[in-house]
Amino acid sequence: MTAVPQIRMNDDRTIPQLGFGVFQIPPAETAKAVRQALDLGHVDLFLMHWPLPTVEGTDYAETWRTMIEFVKDGRARSIGVSNFQVPHLQRAIAETGVVPAVNQIEVHPYFTNEEVRAYDRENGIATEAWSPIAQGAVLGDEVVQRIAQSLDKSPAQVVLRWHVQRGDVVFPKSVTPSRMKENFEIFDFELDADAMSDLSHLNRGERGRTGPNPDEFDYLPA
Ligand SMILES: NC(=O)c1ccc[n+]([C@@H]2O[C@H](COP(=O)([O-])OP(=O)(O)OC[C@H]3O[C@@H](n4cnc5c(N)ncnc54)[C@H](OP(=O)(O)O)[C@@H]3O)[C@@H](O)[C@H]2O)c1
Repeated sequence: MTAVPQIRMNDDRTIPQLGFGVFQIPPAETAKAVRQALDLGHVDLFLMHWPLPTVEGTDYAETWRTMIEFVKDGRARSIGVSNFQVPHLQRAIAETGVVPAVNQIEVHPYFTNEEVRAYDRENGIATEAWSPIAQGAVLGDEVVQRIAQSLDKSPAQVVLRWHVQRGDVVFPKSVTPSRMKENFEIFDFELDADAMSDLSHLNRGERGRTGPNPDEFDYLPA
């Protein structure tokens, strides 16, 4: 078994730096799995999924205030947010005095999301990188391929290792057993400073996003 490093959060709890994503597993199966997990204990980490700043009748700062109660009454051990931009973090913190333990945001070599990561870092918020391999889009990149070949590693391993060395939490999604295994075998090698820099320079800024921009995203499930 590979020992996955732990990151200490600002509420003095820890989070593994590598996990499994479950995005797009059918809802009925997800509900069953979550029900089973809840029966086994409480929620370890509860996240607000999107700030939805343009949706009338929603207020992410008020939602954050409610989530703070979850910790107080024991419904969640740690609480955090997802897809929060810097102004969303600033307002939620200013209005409640409570800093999220985690901010889960899109990060991969084509969208390195430095501004939000810097704010997270400066404020003791652990950054979790979603779509860490850009749903596969970065794996064919010639820079990624070159580094992977030089280290005798797969492109996915190189990109996941880049995240880990940047200090972020990653949770690639895979339903393929061989890929799940491969994605966990990233703690027996290191990327040197040149490789880290080359991967970071693949950043395309806003053009590199694969998901919605949190400033505009306004979808509410029916
Ligand atoms: N907070 C948010 O708004 C948000 C948004 C999006 C995602 N997420 C979270 O982030 C997690 C991961 O993101 P994601 O699923 O969008 O993208 P991802 O993890 O970057 O990529 C998943 C895709 O890459 C493939 N893959 C996985 N490992 C591979 C490997 N070693 N080699 C080649 N292909 C590989 C998977 O295929 P197979 O499954 O077929 O193997 C799947 O098609 C999700 O599960 C979800 O929990 C959060």
